[in-house]
Amino acid sequence: MHFWKKLTNNQIKERVFSALQKNVDYNERTILGVPASHLDEKVFNRDLVFLDDAPFLSSMVYNPNHIGCHTMGESEEFFAGTQEIEKELIEIVATDILKNEPGASDGYIASGGTEANMQAMWIYRNFYKKQHGAKHQEIAILCSEDSHYSMPKAANILNIPMISAKVDDNTRLVDEAQLRIQLEEAKNNGIKYIILIANMMTTMFGSVDNLETYTKALKDLDFDYKVHVDGAYGGFVYPFSAKEPNLLMNNPEVNSVTLDAHKMVQAPFGTGIFIIRKGWMQYATTEEAQYVQGMDATIIGSRSGANAISIWMILMTYGPHGWFEKIHLLNYRTQWLCDQLKELGVEFYRNPASNLVTMRASYIPEDIAHKYGIVPDSHNEDAKWYKIVVMSHVTVDLLIPFIEDMKIHLQK
Ligand SMILES: Cc1ncc(COP(=O)(O)O)c(C=O)c1O
Repeated sequence: MHFWKKLTNNQIKERVFSALQKNVDYNERTILGVPASHLDEKVFNRDLVFLDDAPFLSSMVYNPNHIGCHTMGESEEFFAGTQEIEKELIEIVATDILKNEPGASDGYIASGGTEANMQAMWIYRNFYKKQHGAKHQEIAILCSEDSHYSMPKAANILNIPMISAKVDDNTRLVDEAQLRIQLEEAKNNGIKYIILIANMMTTMFGSVDNLETYTKALKDLDFDYKVHVDGAYGGFVYPFSAKEPNLLMNNPEVNSVTLDAHKMVQAPFGTGIFIIRKGWMQYATTEEAQYVQGMDATIIGSRSGANAISIWMILMTYGPHGWFEKIHLLNYRTQWLCDQLKELGVEFYRNPASNLVTMRASYIPEDIAHKYGIVPDSHNEDAKWYKIVVMSHVTVDLLIPFIEDMKIHLQK
């Protein structure tokens, strides 16, 4: 570990309050030129005594704007104190979780996984346009059919085609033979550049792509490609639970990664994380953002600095070993659930490193699914699968009644 270490509550409080003090205080300094202030004082009273003990809520009230990307160049000086915390957080995630070299990453706290994925695809589309003179119809997004819908959304917004690789219904792995057929067809249709999105745990299955299946086919067929890893769900799980995770940044093929703190980290919504190797953010810089100090290379524009602080606080409270323990406890409970399902004869998919279990819908009656809030793969068509996500509130005590109900149902 280079940067991530466990801190006490007092150390965390001290660090956040001292960062807030280095930000502009609209009551202490005359600031006439920004369309921003602390939260409305009639509604959000900043003199409340308990705020002195609540660094995250205080950050909300002081309302720092973290517009832009702070790991490179200049940033808005008004919020320099809390931007430092975001910079440290990006370095912790990039180096201590994703295993990039220290000082070799840029990144920022995005609104969520959708934005972070889109940021990557935006950068690579612009790179191919700028450096290779590529036309939109020559650049395609490639991802598996189990990928999150942010990929077709991005294809639509960025106005480039998408290739959806078929997966095996049991293993959820990309079908190699089919992939080659799809890529040959793409080549015949004029696609030269591929933005590959590899899944580090999919939304519905927790499945993890075999990167080599893609890269081998892309090399064989002479495509130019860039790899982004979607770890929106798995970014805070898989690096801790997998024996040899090969979708991290110590793999030179991986150029950027999405993680979501508002999923497994239980941070407030608005805490997606985008990490990319240095030298790439420039392809998303909007030169016209001249009024922003350091300009802007993100999709979102203005964003709350309190979000970055919340993630930093959670990671520092656990420390790397506490986090490892938390993930392993969840995986222990997941294993318990899988053992029960096996005994009942219920067919399911689970990646051994994952805390997500996806059961064939034919075993799950609708009333049980509804009673336990189990989520189907489709709300519009007949469900084929139902998933259970073993979050920290999903204890064995909560799983037992589900298993008991299933037993009764299957005995009927
Ligand atoms: C694998 C994966 N990628 C991307 C996303 C999108 O994340 P968000 O809803 O934060 O935009 C999700 C959300 O469930 C996801 O599971």
